[in-house]
Amino acid sequence: MVVEIKDGVYWVGVVDWELKHFHGHELSTHRGSTYNSYLILDEKKVLVDGVWTPFADQLIANISEIIDPAELDIVVANHAEVDHAGALPTVMRHARDATVVCSPKGLDSFPGNYHVDWDFQAVKTGETIDIGSNELIFVEAPMLHWPDSMFTYLTGRNILMPNDAFGQHYATAGRFNDEVDQEELYEEALKYYVNILTPFSNLVSKKIEEVVGLGLPVDMIAPSHGVIWREDPMQIVSKYQEWAAQEPECKAVILYDTMWNATGRMAAAIGDGFGDEGVDYKCLHMALTDRNDALVEVFKARTVVVGSPTFNNGILAGMTPILEELKGLRMKNKLGASFGSYGWSGGAAKILQERLAEAKIEVIRDGIEVKWQPDAEGLATCREFGRELAAATKKT
Ligand code: FEO
Repeated sequence: MVVEIKDGVYWVGVVDWELKHFHGHELSTHRGSTYNSYLILDEKKVLVDGVWTPFADQLIANISEIIDPAELDIVVANHAEVDHAGALPTVMRHARDATVVCSPKGLDSFPGNYHVDWDFQAVKTGETIDIGSNELIFVEAPMLHWPDSMFTYLTGRNILMPNDAFGQHYATAGRFNDEVDQEELYEEALKYYVNILTPFSNLVSKKIEEVVGLGLPVDMIAPSHGVIWREDPMQIVSKYQEWAAQEPECKAVILYDTMWNATGRMAAAIGDGFGDEGVDYKCLHMALTDRNDALVEVFKARTVVVGSPTFNNGILAGMTPILEELKGLRMKNKLGASFGSYGWSGGAAKILQERLAEAKIEVIRDGIEVKWQPDAEGLATCREFGRELAAATKKT
């Protein structure tokens, strides 16, 4: 359903209730998503971003409720990723005379992804386009989320359209932040930040300072996924500043995989040690836990403890994906340690410790291993290990 979000500005996007995985299967999206596209009617007719390829016809139908898509003068393409630009080849078949406005890096990513020869106009930070009564102002935002990413600001209506930044994978009936469950909204906004933007936290902080420094009034922040921030729109900017600082809470998360529950019992005993010291913790069996949700818990926690039995001289495969993600996300201000059980030869704890170091997680102390099933003494050792890690967690 098309929604007029401000005078002459329409949301013409799509709500995808069915989406359960994004980026192929890299990111879980339990609550679906939206692909937000905005139509601006001024002397010039402007479309800002499109939708994912399978919804191209829906986008055309939505635009057609307001104008003939052939009337579009400008298509602002803030980012070439397929969830926003996949429908643009269809749009451009209708809007044959439209100019496609993108960042300078877009001159590489759009032809590279779509093999098209549109009438491109590259704009740099601070450049403007007069569309009649109002102007579009552009701010390049490299790596938020690709090198080509760009923010577009509409004067007169005071709407910032920052594409992926400030988004959420969150399908809802309402289009605005004041129309949805706040707890769900912030769960999804944080999960989105953690899984997509964490490695670029320094850039997020700098970009926010730059945009705020422009002194533009902001009545709405209209991202390309999820709800539009209408009520107190700067609240999400403050949250991003907080998240970008990566100052974890005094708590721990214990990630493990286990075969016959020896390592699982060690995890529980280590958790008891944290509990003894009054440090909140979660135990997550990674063969049974959504990886992207687990990463949110790691993001929030000061200490991450990883465990696996030794298996074929290595670690259980259930731990591999999250360790790979931790390496890529480069979270800051984390402490870590490792543990595991073994039968005839150990080594998993050492391998896990090396993986923590690769992820730039500061290892508190060497890991511990228990042979076969832990007995009372083995569990006591684990509990003491947990207490020691908890003390280090509290110190910082
Ligand atoms: Fe929502 Fe980077 O695309």
